[in-house]
Amino acid sequence: MAETKLETAGRPAEKLIHIADLHFWSLVWNPIKLLNKRFLGNLNVWLKRRREFQMHLAEDFADAAAATGITTVVLTGDFTSTATDAEFRLARAFVEGLSKRGLQVHLVPGNHDVYTFESERTRRFEKHLKAFIPDQGYPSRVTLPNGTPLLLIPTVSANYLSAKGRIRKKEIEEALRLIEGCPPGPVLVAAHYPVLHKTHGYDSSPDRQLRNADLLREALGSCGREILYMAGHVHRFSYTADPHFSNVEYLTTPAFFMRRHGHVERGAFSEIHIDEEGFHVYRHGYAEEWIREKTQRQ
Ligand SMILES: [Fe+2]
Ligand SMILES: [Fe+2]
Repeated sequence: MAETKLETAGRPAEKLIHIADLHFWSLVWNPIKLLNKRFLGNLNVWLKRRREFQMHLAEDFADAAAATGITTVVLTGDFTSTATDAEFRLARAFVEGLSKRGLQVHLVPGNHDVYTFESERTRRFEKHLKAFIPDQGYPSRVTLPNGTPLLLIPTVSANYLSAKGRIRKKEIEEALRLIEGCPPGPVLVAAHYPVLHKTHGYDSSPDRQLRNADLLREALGSCGREILYMAGHVHRFSYTADPHFSNVEYLTTPAFFMRRHGHVERGAFSEIHIDEEGFHVYRHGYAEEWIREKTQRQ
């Protein structure tokens, strides 16, 4: 963030929680439902995800998020693993649980939520999470309780085999139009895919990157607003400034309940404060208990 003070017009600090990559999973046994890319995804669930994504912790973790006292949560997609109805039912119950705990929920889809062309065509994500999707779809702008605008932008599409993201030029133009209409002050942007392909925290292989990321980066970097761009997808923590555009910071939050082989940490989420000094990011990590630490931008 630039050293200049942000224009927040004396408002109280905005506070929100960022949760990424829940990856609720269920195994599919019906062979008809495995006649597509889901065969690979199901194999991955069997070999890996059922150990890595410990979804039995979901309710306790939702309690931990609510215990911060913060009442806004942004979820940046990958609610499911292979976009089945069973997985979306688990995801919806979790999101509704956040809402029942008093959290205002904002969300965007991840690539695993449109894992097959069939799930995208039948709009399964929209069907299950309708109550939390803006009426006008994506991109959309909402205003958080203390006045900070939040843009929700679309970055996913079904693929045959890759995990590439996509944002269309007209969607970038629409996002810019929404930013231009924001009141003075900082702007939050939430999406599933990061814009930067490589930071201190991750290095995305080409088949996992966002198509048109450079166009989006240029647009955000040239819009003249202080921006914090929040994303998931890489399952790693990263908080960095754009080396070319000093008005943009990028945060990626690890998968919410992921246990990585050889690591004691079993889950994470981010807490974000916005005041006239800029954006402040706190990382919450769960090992035997939740630890909260202020992070420095790198
Ligand atoms: Fe993911
Ligand atoms: Fe993803």
